[in-house]
Amino acid sequence: MLSNMVLTINTFSCCSTSPLSQIYFASFFFTHQLVQTMSMTATPPAVRSYLTPGRPTSKFMTRARMAVRSNLLSFAPILINLQRDCATPLPVLRHVADAMAADMRAGLAVDGRSDLKMILSYVDDLPTGNEKGLFYALDLGGTNFRVLRVQLGGKEERVVATEFDQVSIPQELMFGTSEALFDFIASGLAKFAQKEGGKFHLPHGRTREIGFTFSFPVKQTSIDSGILIKWTKGFAVSGTAGKDVVSCLNEAMQRLGTDMRVSALVNDTVGTLAGARYWDDDVMVAVILGTGTNACYVERVDSIPKLQEQKSVSGRTIVNTEWGGFSNGLPLSEFDRQMDADSINPGEQIFEKTISGMYLGEIVRRVLVKMAEVADLFGEHASAKLSTPFILGTPHISAMQQDSSKNLEAVGSILYDVVGVDSNVNARKIVWEVCDTIAKRGGRLAGAGIVGILEKMEEDSKGVIYGKRTVVAMDGGLYEHYPHYRKYLQDAVTELLGSQLSKNIVIEHSKDGSGIGAALLAATNSKYEH
Ligand code: BGC
Repeated sequence: MLSNMVLTINTFSCCSTSPLSQIYFASFFFTHQLVQTMSMTATPPAVRSYLTPGRPTSKFMTRARMAVRSNLLSFAPILINLQRDCATPLPVLRHVADAMAADMRAGLAVDGRSDLKMILSYVDDLPTGNEKGLFYALDLGGTNFRVLRVQLGGKEERVVATEFDQVSIPQELMFGTSEALFDFIASGLAKFAQKEGGKFHLPHGRTREIGFTFSFPVKQTSIDSGILIKWTKGFAVSGTAGKDVVSCLNEAMQRLGTDMRVSALVNDTVGTLAGARYWDDDVMVAVILGTGTNACYVERVDSIPKLQEQKSVSGRTIVNTEWGGFSNGLPLSEFDRQMDADSINPGEQIFEKTISGMYLGEIVRRVLVKMAEVADLFGEHASAKLSTPFILGTPHISAMQQDSSKNLEAVGSILYDVVGVDSNVNARKIVWEVCDTIAKRGGRLAGAGIVGILEKMEEDSKGVIYGKRTVVAMDGGLYEHYPHYRKYLQDAVTELLGSQLSKNIVIEHSKDGSGIGAALLAATNSKYEH
C-alpha cells in the first residue's frame, strides 16, 4: 500500500507540467515525510481511500484529483497525528491501570495527596433484599433531575412498584444561585410526592424518606450529610461549594413546607452499586459512563489508612474514587489541551474530559474545525455552526459511527443538520475515522481504569477478584448508547487481563440502577424500624 502510494506521487509529479502540479511537486518533500510518518502508523482507511490512484478521464478530473491530493497533504497529517497522540496500545493501557491503582492507594492514605479523592461513602451495609416500605429517591447529576418512588416488599416480593418523573433543569439554573437551584428541585419533588397513591403506602405518622443521589464530588461527613467540593459537568452554581448539600435541600423543602427528609446521601456510582447488589451478590464495582464519569468499589476498612473513626461492622465500606480527576500518563492531543484550557475548570477532571459523554463530541468538533480551516475538508465555505462549542454531541458521533452504508449517508445528514456542512464521501470517511479515534481512546482508557481498580482489590486480598465471578455494574448514557465505545472498553479489559482471567469479570449494564439503589440505601438507613 505504501509503496503504491509513493509510486503514484512520483509518476504524477513527473508527467504533469501544470502550475497545480508544480505546487504538488514542491510539496513532494513534505509528502515524503508524511509517507515516513505513515509507515510508522497504520495508514487510516479514510486516508487510503483518498490516496487510491485512478485513471484520469479529463483535464478537469486531473485537476480535481490534484486539488484533493493537495488537501490531503494538509489534513492527512492532522488525522495521523491525532491517531498517534490518542493511541492506546497495551503498554499505555498497562501504565494507566497501574497508575490508577497507585493513585487509589495514595488517595486512601491521606486526603489531598492524589488526583483521586477516594471519598468515604459511609455506606458499609449494602441492601440485603429484606428492605420493606415506601421510599423516595432524588437524582441530581446532569441536565435532568429524576424523582422516583419505590414500594419494597422484602425478600419475597422485592420491588412491588416504582414510579418516576424526570424534569430538565433550565440552563440558567446551572449558572445561577444555590437557592434557586434547590428551590426548583424541592418543588419538583413536592409535586411528585403529591401524586402518590395506588400501590404506594406510607404508614400513618411517618415522614417520607429520600435517598438523595448527588453526582458531584462531595466530602461525605455522614450517611446523610456531605460538603460539595466543586461542581463538575458544566455546572457553575454559586454558593453551594463548601456547603452541606443535604442542608441546602432541606432548607428548600422547609421554605416550601414539604415534609420529607434525606436519610441517605449517595453518589450515583454508589447508588448503582447498591441497586445492582440487591440482585447479585457478586457486584463489587460500579462505573458511570454518561455525561460525567466515576467509579466506586467495595473496600476493606483496614486498607484505608485515612479512616480513623468510622466503625464498620461488616469490615467493608464503599469508596467513591472520583476517578474523573485522574490524569497520570493519559495520551492527549492538542485538541484535548485546547478544550481543557477553554473549559470552566482548566486542569481538572482530565480523565473525565478524555473519556466521558460530555466531551467526546466536542473533541471531534475541534478536530473537524482544524481540518476545515487548514484543508477545506468540507469545501471552501466555512460553517458558523461548526465553530459553536459543544454543538456536536456524543450521541451524534455515536450515530455517525453506526452508519455502515456505502456512502455514509447518515454521517452526511448529521454533518449537514448539526454542524451545517456539505460533505462528500471521502470527507465523511475522514469524519468517521476521527469519531472512531476519539471513541476508541475513551473506551479503552475506561477499560484500563476498571482493570486498575480490580488489580488494587486483588493485590489487597488475593482471590477476591480473580478467583471467582466478579461483576462490574455499568450505567450511563454513553455506555448504553455507544456500541463501539462499549466494545473498545471490553477489548481493553480482555487485553489487559488475558482471556482466562477476564472470563471471570462480568461487565454488566445496570440500567437506572442508581435510583432504586438510592431508595434502598434510604431504607437501610431509615430512622424507622424495618
Ligand atoms: C462527578 C461524579 C459523578 C460522575 C458521574 C462526575 O462529574 O464528579 O461525582 O459520579 O460525574 O455522574
